[in-house]
Amino acid sequence: MSPLFLLLPLVILTLASTLSFRYHSNSETEQYLSMISATNPSIAHLYSIGRSVRGQKLWVLALGLSPHRHTVGIPEFKYVANIHGNEVLGRELLLQLIDNLVNGYRNNEPWSLQLLNSTRIHILPTMNPDGFDNADTDCVYIQGRYNYNGIDLNRNFPDAFDGPQWNQQPEKHREPEVRAVIGWLKTETFVLSANLHGGALVASYPYDNSNGSELVGGASITPDDDVFVHLAKVYSLNHPSMRDKNDECGDTLFKDGITNGFEWYPITGGMQDYNYVWAQCLEITLELSCCKFPPAKDLPALWADNRKALLAYIQQVHLGVKGQVFDGSGVPVQNAVVEVKGRRNICPFRTDRHGEYYRLLLPGNYSFTVTYPGHEVLTETLSVPYGPDQYSAMKHDFWLRRTNVTTDRTPVNLAPNCNYVLRLEGGGSISRFTWTDVAMGLGLVVALRSQID
Ligand SMILES: *[C@@H]1O[C@H](CO)[C@@H](O)[C@H](O)[C@H]1NC(C)=O
Ligand SMILES: *[C@@H]1O[C@H](CO)[C@@H](O)[C@H](O)[C@H]1NC(C)=O
Ligand SMILES: *[C@@H]1O[C@H](CO)[C@@H](O)[C@H](O)[C@H]1NC(C)=O
Ligand SMILES: *[C@@H]1O[C@H](CO)[C@@H](O)[C@H](O)[C@H]1NC(C)=O
Ligand SMILES: [Zn+2]
Repeated sequence: MSPLFLLLPLVILTLASTLSFRYHSNSETEQYLSMISATNPSIAHLYSIGRSVRGQKLWVLALGLSPHRHTVGIPEFKYVANIHGNEVLGRELLLQLIDNLVNGYRNNEPWSLQLLNSTRIHILPTMNPDGFDNADTDCVYIQGRYNYNGIDLNRNFPDAFDGPQWNQQPEKHREPEVRAVIGWLKTETFVLSANLHGGALVASYPYDNSNGSELVGGASITPDDDVFVHLAKVYSLNHPSMRDKNDECGDTLFKDGITNGFEWYPITGGMQDYNYVWAQCLEITLELSCCKFPPAKDLPALWADNRKALLAYIQQVHLGVKGQVFDGSGVPVQNAVVEVKGRRNICPFRTDRHGEYYRLLLPGNYSFTVTYPGHEVLTETLSVPYGPDQYSAMKHDFWLRRTNVTTDRTPVNLAPNCNYVLRLEGGGSISRFTWTDVAMGLGLVVALRSQID
């Protein structure tokens, strides 16, 4: 054996325990993620969800006791950073988070063992590597914000409120990075997510858009508003300054460091509304630094500010209720509609291919209705405790009874848009997303304010 060969494991170990506080290039990020998955194969799995316009892979590191595949009962969580290529703090925070979780697990620290034991955590440090390569280090300007085609990826998702033309133009152009994320959301039933930005200091929650009917005051309110407000506060209140220093970025002071997205400023085609409406994944937007490209010397303090909040937010994936829906023969069924009374989601939540559902809810009593063709509608009231402290949502399975009539047509209550998106997958790309589309959706205000965060 050559001396170099003997030294190699030592070098790898040293790398693993010292992730430096500096900005890592795309290739350094890729090397770091590869090294982590190679040296921790039992808890880490590296995969790519697609490529950027310039062909750079969009790498995701999955962490958990079964990193390669879903386990029934274990919720899927994700963090996405750097959708705006010049908002860079999130990239480094997520690398530090990986480092922290993996080292915590190796050192048998209970917080890390419990989190990785109960949760599968997916981390996409950069959704816009091409934009990052093009970014300058300015705090406020937009150099590097867009992808290589000059498109704002956080305005390029299908939008439920995008007006009737949405249904008529199924081929509306989606950028490769956006298509990669849309495809990713179909591979797993993600339950909870956040996307990390810079340029402000606030936790912003859906909706980002509206067609008027959801407006309460100036806010566009989802049926799960109580849960979203709670989730946003878990982040902001676990951060030392988000709740009371956010006006230092030049915005008005956001009460408790949170805001409804639309109330702050409306956008069309954002990622968080897409996650919530079509992927039944509750996602919020975290604005983590006034400066979009903070000096590298500030990174240790910024990590210290965000570590607790990043971990506490992951733990919220254990809110509410989870379980499976079984048909009359005792087989778990996909596409059973599981609804909570009083929460009329635009696309009703459905069971996944494992027959599983996850429903984030605050503690309380809820009436559930489960609908599946050929079976009686099942209604049950559940008393839901607070799950995060136990690292598990309450577990409850639903057992359906077959109806007698063979020609049964139990209505499965899917809005047309929900079916529509199921058809989107194979879709090509034709017309480009234009400002005319935006203006038709919400008016000029969107275009004017689209470059803010
Ligand atoms: C991890 O989960 C297993 C059961 O799957 C359990 O026996 C073990 O105690 C758990 N460890 C921790 C630290 O939660
Ligand atoms: C838009 O508003 C109408 C009522 O004006 C409502 O029926 C419809 O569901 C809304 N669309 C969405 C996607 O919420
Ligand atoms: C939920 O229902 C139980 C009875 O099943 C009751 O004791 C409890 O007070 C209720 N909780 C709430 C928050 O309404
Ligand atoms: C199904 O048919 C059986 C036998 O005809 C009958 O006893 C039963 O009540 C029916 N159940 C329902 C739900 O209609
Ligand atoms: Zn941004």
